[in-house]
Amino acid sequence: MKENVNDGSTPIHLRAGGTSLVIAVDGGRLPRILHWGPDLGALGDDALADLHRAALPAVGDSAVTYPQPVPVLPQLAEGWLGRPGLVGDADGRRWAPKFRDATHEVDHADDGPVLRSTALDPEYGLAADFEIQVLAASGLVRQRVAVRNDTAAPYRIDSLELALPVPSDASEILDLTGRWALERVPQRRPFHVGEWVRASRGGKPGLEHTMLLVAGEAGFGFRHGLVWATHLAWSGNQVLAAERTPAGTRHLTAGEVLLPGEVVLGQGESYRSPWQYGSWGAGLDDLASRFHRHLRSRPQHPRSPRPVVLNTWEAVYFHHDLDTLTALAERGAEAGAERFVLDDGWFQGRRDDTSSLGDWTVDPAIWPGGLEPLVARVRELGMDFGLWFEPEMVNLDSDLAREHPEWIFDGGHGPGLASRHQHVLDLGHPDAYTHLFDRISGLVGSLGIDYIKWDHNRYLLDAGHTPDGRPGVRRQVEQAYRLMAELKAAHPGLEIESCASGGGRVDLGVLEFADRVWPSDCNDPHERLEIQRWTGLLVPPEMQGTHIGAEESHTTHRTHPLDYRAEKALWGHLGIEVNLLTADDETHAALARWIAFHKEHRALLHSGDVVHADLADAAFRLEGVVARDRGEALYAFSVVERPSTWPPGRIRLPGLDDERHYTVEAVHPGSAPAAGAVLPPWQRDGVTLPGRALRLVGIEAPSLDVDRSVLLRVVSVPAAS
Ligand code: DGJ
Repeated sequence: MKENVNDGSTPIHLRAGGTSLVIAVDGGRLPRILHWGPDLGALGDDALADLHRAALPAVGDSAVTYPQPVPVLPQLAEGWLGRPGLVGDADGRRWAPKFRDATHEVDHADDGPVLRSTALDPEYGLAADFEIQVLAASGLVRQRVAVRNDTAAPYRIDSLELALPVPSDASEILDLTGRWALERVPQRRPFHVGEWVRASRGGKPGLEHTMLLVAGEAGFGFRHGLVWATHLAWSGNQVLAAERTPAGTRHLTAGEVLLPGEVVLGQGESYRSPWQYGSWGAGLDDLASRFHRHLRSRPQHPRSPRPVVLNTWEAVYFHHDLDTLTALAERGAEAGAERFVLDDGWFQGRRDDTSSLGDWTVDPAIWPGGLEPLVARVRELGMDFGLWFEPEMVNLDSDLAREHPEWIFDGGHGPGLASRHQHVLDLGHPDAYTHLFDRISGLVGSLGIDYIKWDHNRYLLDAGHTPDGRPGVRRQVEQAYRLMAELKAAHPGLEIESCASGGGRVDLGVLEFADRVWPSDCNDPHERLEIQRWTGLLVPPEMQGTHIGAEESHTTHRTHPLDYRAEKALWGHLGIEVNLLTADDETHAALARWIAFHKEHRALLHSGDVVHADLADAAFRLEGVVARDRGEALYAFSVVERPSTWPPGRIRLPGLDDERHYTVEAVHPGSAPAAGAVLPPWQRDGVTLPGRALRLVGIEAPSLDVDRSVLLRVVSVPAAS
């Protein structure tokens, strides 16, 4: 149902999924958000008009006092002196756009109400079409804008950023940083006057990218404090910023970082920004659950049980041979693996990482009978088959690079710096795109590949399209999306994992096409606990690849017992990434027990609400998954450093139903606690308590060494009479 709201006298109230968004639309001005956050209930026109009046500040004596609140596209020509909304020009003119004469329409769409606003800048011949939506399944807010040039003079856009306001209680900022094998490290700071800007300019979000920018009430945690966050659904260059002005505005902005001349609009052409998403919550768990609900509500969300993966990378690296890999597949199937993924090293000439990217044909020297015998055995064992590709990359030492040097990005100084010995294939060349599609699709079809591990290791630097040298980064992202979509359309059921040296391409843009992300190349459970926790702000467990790695981590060289490695991998899309051919029988049997435990509980793990306790002592972690109906839960209590107090004290279990009773027991899928271990009394045979008592009183934490954990299984039972 559509509703015209042209008179604009009353703010628009979009309500869905527990979120209210109240938007002022008066005076032909651009939409201005008065409230974004908790549902306000039904409000009549009078209340909405008063809410608008109540939200207006006193106007000072400066002519350039910007009317509050600022529109979703802030404009210099209206007096805005902060981060610009649209930066563009026509050969040095038409550089201070002033969109106005806006008309508005509310569409009560099935996936949530959407305000569509169209505004014009008649002098400049520009039009802007906004969409601002509250999603019904999640209460997420999202917005985007399309700017159109209606004149014959080309209009160049340098940047286009939208803004979501946060209230003045949002006094602290949280964002994420990181590096290879240490993605998603949180950092916090006060929300001072100024701009806190996080940008990615490497053609993908990157390992160090913040993924989300959060502002919240002082001291907010997973379970407390109101928080608001923004995310850009885009896998290319981008900027997220938290801005506070002396005049009181606080907002979170997001937009694509455009390279010079990347967007030049001819007459009638438009540039549409990626979706800017906004989530809010009472604590980070609530904020994250909106993203999880959103992803889970989409028709393409993976709904079949997530098959346990056996990935060959850390098991054999480039040392491929049929006998070893067949034996690995057999050992994996015995342990319970359901999908065999052959990683890097299978294609023409690829013996190490110095050559052959781009030559996507099976190497006859290593695979004289092709991959078919391996695939046939994998299928006999009842497993799916997956194969590694790095479609956008090329080694200069490859047949592809020798035959088509013009398909390699070149900003005017040759192909540029190598990284991991590789360069980038420009998918903006139609022939390069077609070549790639044909090669990958041919293999997917002939081998019956179920799953592509889609890697992307090099950043895009001076990524110029040959022969003109114009930047091709934006088009590269669009073409990568197109390639994923067309491969999936040609091969229904094909799944894709987004990997970029680990977690370098984790965003809602790629997740339109990918079925899971690889959060990190680090399989060390000590690091994985944190990486998965913070990746989980956006990505639900079933979309995070979590593998049981080697006893001695290949990235950190710490050693951990199987139980800790397996427990930390249990929660996501489980995999094995270890050489099973060297594991002794006892280890193998324990691994099989962990995999069986995962399969028994994966329906819960992959559909429930993810919860984290806010614990005062930084030495401890408690996280879990609670069934949506609150009937059961699993938690893990972990010790990550030596605590200052001992015994550790009580832990409270979040997320349960206050009114129901639950049994709590420690479970040990791998190996039982050593005889004589010091255990709190309840841990010997469990305890039964109301959810309220578990939330408010808690239970004594198990006594553990560093990098050890205990799993808690919690099941609701009828209340004792
Ligand atoms: C980087 C990935 O992150 C790894 O998991 C592995 O696939 C290698 N590339 C293969 O070269």
